[in-house]
Amino acid sequence: MPKICPYPFSRIEYNSNYYIPCCFDWLTDEYHKLDHTNSDKWNSKAAIELRKRILKNDYSLCKRDYCQIKLRDTDENHVRTTDCDLDKQRLDLIANGTVNFTGPTSVSITADRRCNLACESCRPEKVVTLSADDKKNLELTKQQLSKHANTIKIIKMVGDGEVFYSPYLSKFLKQLSPATYPSLEKVSLLTNGTLLSEANYERHKPGINYVQEISVSIDAGNQETYDQVRGGDWQQLMKNLTFMADLRAKGIIKKLSISFVVRKKNYLTMKEFARLGLELKTDQVIFSAFHPWHNIRDHVDYDDQAIHLESHSEHNKLVTQINSVKKDYPNVEFKFHYTNQEALPQ
Ligand SMILES: C[S@@+](CC[C@H](N)C(=O)[O-])C[C@H]1O[C@@H](n2cnc3c(N)ncnc32)[C@H](O)[C@@H]1O
Ligand code: SF4
Repeated sequence: MPKICPYPFSRIEYNSNYYIPCCFDWLTDEYHKLDHTNSDKWNSKAAIELRKRILKNDYSLCKRDYCQIKLRDTDENHVRTTDCDLDKQRLDLIANGTVNFTGPTSVSITADRRCNLACESCRPEKVVTLSADDKKNLELTKQQLSKHANTIKIIKMVGDGEVFYSPYLSKFLKQLSPATYPSLEKVSLLTNGTLLSEANYERHKPGINYVQEISVSIDAGNQETYDQVRGGDWQQLMKNLTFMADLRAKGIIKKLSISFVVRKKNYLTMKEFARLGLELKTDQVIFSAFHPWHNIRDHVDYDDQAIHLESHSEHNKLVTQINSVKKDYPNVEFKFHYTNQEALPQ
């Protein structure tokens, strides 16, 4: 059997319109045009077609230059990642050519846009209520979650809002239990961290005990820049990070990372950010590319800010900065794989 990418056989990002196993922009337009209309997107025609092709070692529906899965990284017949789980039973089914499975083992919840911040890179204004479309999407996610409740082992939250601000997500996290998700093993959080105080952590028990990985996105190495790019309470964030670092030191969580979307406005604070990671003893410090999200076009000059693009007139200054950060902090990670300048579709 050829080496396979595990995502299409084990994972789903709940999304109203498509079956997305990994990331919308890792898949081709041809894939997005396939039929995703099954009431359970997990076994839609698009999902089945993607799985069939991958089993023939045909990755033509994937953008291999964007995707971060390296198919030659392993001697096993599939690639291991921390955010999905292909168990023995499923691998046996795959070996027999099965492409239709009861449900995913790993899910990513991206269905609630509500957030306490309005970071410039993400949105023009705060989203504090749900639109009619948002409500519909959230209902679909709830239906899918209950359909897949028995097979889910890993839950990742949240892709497009803030888990500790959304009443739905916050309650969902708090109420996670073996009674509702009998196979659940771990939850991984992506958060802006400003609301993750010790008191709020306690309030989210018992469900929050499933959390093993926390990734905090910050985008700045000091308060002045944070005010400009995110506008949250820096002092509170620092207190919360100290608390999270303590959870990590005690082994209550297994991984803590901090991340930084690089722009012209913040790149000069990258070194301070790397130092913050070292002080907090985080497992990862990640710098990543600024993407041209559709809803920032009116208030951000993308071409001016996208300093990670080689075509940017000041790109060489970023390269100098990166080399200097790498020299002092060799363990930080740079994920600038995405260089497409076209705006992403909804
Ligand atoms: C939309 S946020 C939602 C989760 C949470 N509220 C947070 O900020 O981490 C998910 C991730 O997208 C990143 N992000 C925001 N705007 C972006 C952009 N234009 N390009 C690339 N990443 C972006 C954030 O830094 C964060 O890591
Ligand atoms: S990046 Fe995260 S914290 Fe900032 S507005 Fe978007 S969802 Fe909220």
